[in-house]
Amino acid sequence: MRYYVTTPIYYVNDVPHLGTAYTTIVVDAIRRYHQLRGHATRMLTGTDEHGLKLEREARSRGITPEKFVKEMSDRFEAAWPKLEVVPDDFIRTTQPRHETLVQDLWRTIRDRGDLYLGTYEEWYCVGCEGYKTEKELLPGNLCPLHQRPVERMKEETYLFRLSKFQDRLLDLYSRHPEFIEPESRRNEVISFVEGGLKDLSVSRTSFSWGIPVPDDPRHVMYVWFDALANYWTAVQAPPDLHAYWNDATVVHVVGKDILRQHAIYWPAFLMSAGLPLPAKIVAHGFLTFGGQKMSKSLRNAADPISMAYSLSQAMRASEDAGADVLRYQLLRAIAFGQDGDFDPSAMVERYNADLGKNLGNLLARTLGLCIKMTGTRVPAQGVIGPLERELYAKVEEARNLAIKGWDEIEPHRALESTWAIASAANQYVDRAAPWAEDKQGNRARVGTILHTLLSVLGLLAKLVWPVMPNRSDEMHRQLGLPPVQAAAGKDWLPAARETRSEGEPLTPGAPLFPTFDEAAGAALIESITPRVGDASNVSTGSAVGRDTVRPEGPAASGAPTLPGNSAFPVSGESTSISYDKFSTVDLRVGLIRDAVRVPRKDKLLKLMVDLGEDSLRTIVAGLALTFKPEDLLGRRVIVVSNLEPREFGKGLVSHGMVLATGPSDQLVLASVSSDAPPGARLK
Ligand code: MSP
Repeated sequence: MRYYVTTPIYYVNDVPHLGTAYTTIVVDAIRRYHQLRGHATRMLTGTDEHGLKLEREARSRGITPEKFVKEMSDRFEAAWPKLEVVPDDFIRTTQPRHETLVQDLWRTIRDRGDLYLGTYEEWYCVGCEGYKTEKELLPGNLCPLHQRPVERMKEETYLFRLSKFQDRLLDLYSRHPEFIEPESRRNEVISFVEGGLKDLSVSRTSFSWGIPVPDDPRHVMYVWFDALANYWTAVQAPPDLHAYWNDATVVHVVGKDILRQHAIYWPAFLMSAGLPLPAKIVAHGFLTFGGQKMSKSLRNAADPISMAYSLSQAMRASEDAGADVLRYQLLRAIAFGQDGDFDPSAMVERYNADLGKNLGNLLARTLGLCIKMTGTRVPAQGVIGPLERELYAKVEEARNLAIKGWDEIEPHRALESTWAIASAANQYVDRAAPWAEDKQGNRARVGTILHTLLSVLGLLAKLVWPVMPNRSDEMHRQLGLPPVQAAAGKDWLPAARETRSEGEPLTPGAPLFPTFDEAAGAALIESITPRVGDASNVSTGSAVGRDTVRPEGPAASGAPTLPGNSAFPVSGESTSISYDKFSTVDLRVGLIRDAVRVPRKDKLLKLMVDLGEDSLRTIVAGLALTFKPEDLLGRRVIVVSNLEPREFGKGLVSHGMVLATGPSDQLVLASVSSDAPPGARLK
């Protein structure tokens, strides 16, 4: 079997965080499972580097898009191996190998008659790099995901005849129900397609940071046309990789937010080009924190690398041990396909229970009993009795379920069943009571019990390898077994019964997962809990985004609240507030990039303010009696950036407040010295 599994390629306006690490770790674990079974495997990840969002982001930082995307892509490429993710290839959509082939794909689709020139007008969310139908928008024309106003886009564009593929897509979904998983998501896609597909705009003339359309350089390709193709372009050279597209089980693992592109657009592009389709698109849910999708732009994301580091510190083990534990936690705690909230205390509890007291203890007590009763060599199996038969029956059943869990891409179930084996073995030790047999001098029986435990532990060491490769190696080492060295054609899980030969040496070592006492657990929780609102949670850049923390008290207005008569009031009634309360107000340096009057509102100006985010913020401010719009261009101001959006009618929504003082016709803006970059936080 040849198995090719991919992650989405990540936008480089963000940095790797726990949410994107989740997707990547899931894919790495699935791929490792197939390696374990001896399949020929390939894993692809990479970065999505074109599009308006990235062009704007680079511009707002004053660097070229090329430089910006390279720097950010490097972070992704460097991050994943620290989490024990070992992709075979890392694709960047700005690489010539990709660009040339995407242009070939375009020509093929064009020559089939599935591309034509037209115009397109629709609401567009720069955050999603995607069009939104009227129906999808929240009041105030906000994108439901980014909670930011969408933009009206009208331009000459090439359109892909998506409508032509409606029936073929529905036929695909009905003939291959396994094409989209889980089922609930499949149904969503089917009803969307049944609702009617419109032709898809696949080029842009309004920006240039993209792959040029062949024979029409005024246009660049729509970022999704370019991005989806990565899965195919990455296996076009050298030619021996072709089999990973033409003769392989191809599985794309994606977040639920990008299922539509993968389950509708991508197969339609491939059908048009006459290329084989992937076998499966699997959508997972979001990793949330406090109920909000984790992302750096929402400022609630955790840095997975520092989490792995904190875990290994707490375990007093090497860094790779922490990465293993993080991988286990993510895959075990989140029911694949559903959203899962990141809960540091539950993580500590699960560590102690599953890893410390269950699997870790099983290994430690088994080896401890061996040293005490039979020495550091595997004892003879002897004659197995009813307890062993019962245990092996449970082990076999759970092993089969674990395999099923992996085969069906349900890692949480695979792990649940794997841990059922560890629990059964722990119960078996208690029931078989080797200490009692030893006391009575039943040496053969003691040998049988310990041999049985060593054999089950050997199986467990393999079953945990996809998720915890380092801890698996360490288990193998202590058990005196060679570590998993995956190779095509070698199945490391051939049977439920691992055979051990009498006399093989054992090399007990430090506990695999030392349990955390209360103080260590509390310290760990403190160090891994994301500080909501702190852009430094993930270690890069100045991009900060929408609010996740709402200030308490009455909803503030988008326009400054202006004082009454006195020119510059120096005090008002003030009650003291705690630092914690103050810290919920997110004050940022904003750079005014654009200002216009608001028709029929003589006090208001509509500002476009750079807060170092993906796109400019719209802020409606009562500044018009003091300032002409052009006076404000390039001014640095202080912005309350986490006010809830406020509507000013006709789709005009303000996303923040500019601080000023004075009467409305003599306002003075609060500001900072010109050195502070847009988005810098005031504290
Ligand atoms: N560039 C596109 C994908 C193109 S694939 C041809 C994109 N990039 S992204 O960086 O915004 O998101 C990539 C993936 O990361 C998505 O599958 C998304 O769901 C996932 N995640 C981002 N944040 C996440 C969580 N908080 N939780 C789980 N998955 C997360 O979309």
